[in-house]
Parts: sequence; C-alpha cells; structure tokens
Amino acid sequence: MDLCLSRRRFLRYSLGALAGLGLVPGCATLPVYRIAEVTTEGFTMPLDDFDALAGDNGILSVVSPEFESSILLIRREDGTFLALTSRCTHQGCTVKPSRSFLVCPCHGSTFDLNGKVLRGPARTPLPRFSATIQSDLIEVRLTEFLK
Ligand code: FES
Repeated sequence: MDLCLSRRRFLRYSLGALAGLGLVPGCATLPVYRIAEVTTEGFTMPLDDFDALAGDNGILSVVSPEFESSILLIRREDGTFLALTSRCTHQGCTVKPSRSFLVCPCHGSTFDLNGKVLRGPARTPLPRFSATIQSDLIEVRLTEFLK
C-alpha cells in the first residue's frame, strides 16, 4: 500500500476537513434553531440567544417538523430582520449562504439576502415573511408573504 499522498489529494483532504469544521470561507456551517411551537400565525423566538444574528447579514436557520423547508432568518444591514424560505424556487433544493448571497447547490441559482434572483435557472424570488422585534423576541409571521 502506498502511503504517500499526492499534493492534489493532500489539498483535497485538507480542504475537506477544514470545510467540515466550518473554517473555509463560504462553507461555514449555518447555526440552527429548532422551533418547538408554531401557530397558524407563525412563531416567536428569543432574539438575544443567537450570536449569529448579532452582526449585519447574520443568518440563522430555523427548523420545525411543521415546516416543509427551513426558514432563514436574516439580520439586514439596517438592523431589521427578514425571513425567507430556504427552498429554491427552481426545483426545491436547499439554498446555502455564501458570503452575502444565497446559492443553490443543485443548479447554481443565486439569490440576494432579500430573496431576489440574481442568477438562474430559478426565475422566482424566495418567498419572504415579515420578522419584527417585540421587546426581546422576534416574531415571524408565516401567514404574511412579502413582495
Ligand atoms: S433547484 Fe435550485 S437551482 Fe435548481
């Protein structure tokens, strides 16, 4: 058995290990919050518990057994919040944050952090929901689609 690694293979293994640890830019692991209770209106969650939402363009993935796909909660540069579905409008894969974009790993559609399509094949924006601060809680209204 040959124990020597080629330079290419060594780099591939090293980058894979770093990506797994979330240390490669653009491949960071998205923090996840599991919602225990979702009403017909939406859900609320404590805001202060999430370092991911402390900075501009911070993103938290919110999951629930009642959601078809996760909801991406995004803190925008003006300090307001927005919620988007993570389900790509092309064929339903889950989009991933990459720098200040959301990129679909299946066919490469790219969205801005408002859900607008920047690059196809997707043609329809990601559905958006309002997310407002109520004292130290953030309230996401799932019944209300934003245009
Ligand atoms: S499913 Fe997202 S680009 Fe095709």
